[in-house]
Amino acid sequence: MTKKSTGFSHKMIETNVGLLIILSIAVISFAGLAQIVPLFFQHSTTQPTPGVEPYEPLNLIGRDVYIREGCVGCHSQQIRMLSSEVQRYGPYSLAGESRYDHPFLWGSKRTGPDLARVGKRYSDDWHRVHLRNPRDVVQESNMPAYPWLQHNSVENENVQDRMKVLRTLGVPYTDEQIDKAPEQLKGKTEEDALIAYLQGLGVAGRAAAAKAVAEGEL
Ligand code: HEC
Repeated sequence: MTKKSTGFSHKMIETNVGLLIILSIAVISFAGLAQIVPLFFQHSTTQPTPGVEPYEPLNLIGRDVYIREGCVGCHSQQIRMLSSEVQRYGPYSLAGESRYDHPFLWGSKRTGPDLARVGKRYSDDWHRVHLRNPRDVVQESNMPAYPWLQHNSVENENVQDRMKVLRTLGVPYTDEQIDKAPEQLKGKTEEDALIAYLQGLGVAGRAAAAKAVAEGEL
């Protein structure tokens, strides 16, 4: 059966490149919005995961050392919903676990292992040895050594300013926490701060994430 193609038809769109491009963009944009916009309103993506609190001042400074040293260039902090990842790294990451991360450090390169749940996996001493010379604990490691961190004090870091900026971005630090912040940095080094940060990674949200995995399809 033949049908005369008049007006707005599939054939007309397929044979008109300009129109095809415009309509394709419209369809993709709508589909994108339909996927993305609901995430701005879902509790699970906008609220912190139960147990997750803003970073302690020392951990916050450690996080900035992590950013400065480019650790994110070799380490992701996002466990995906794949059984191989869950078996290796632990319960997959929930959006709410990154609620207080500005910016996110999810990363996209894994020269080294994912660190989203590295907290409490090793002792502080292990981290100390590893950061000073990774080869001392993992013979074949190609991770760079960071021996200078142990010599840099964090006592005079502008931690209060950083907390105030984070507060403008929605991290609920109280005045009291900001007042007391410098106390926590007394006598500490960049190495201490980085280790404190690493030891906290993925710990607070772990129970909620494990529950999500148990209830999910994995
Ligand atoms: C050039 C890439 C590279 C950079 C940069 C790098 N790492 Fe690594 N990292 C690795 C590799 C490879 C491993 C695995 C071998 C090992 O344990 O040393 C590793 C392992 C680790 C581990 C142990 C993880 C586990 O589950 O066993 C931690 C913790 C770690 N890195 C932290 C850091 C921190 C903190 C920084 C920044 C100061 C950093 N890394 C920078 C490549 C890198």
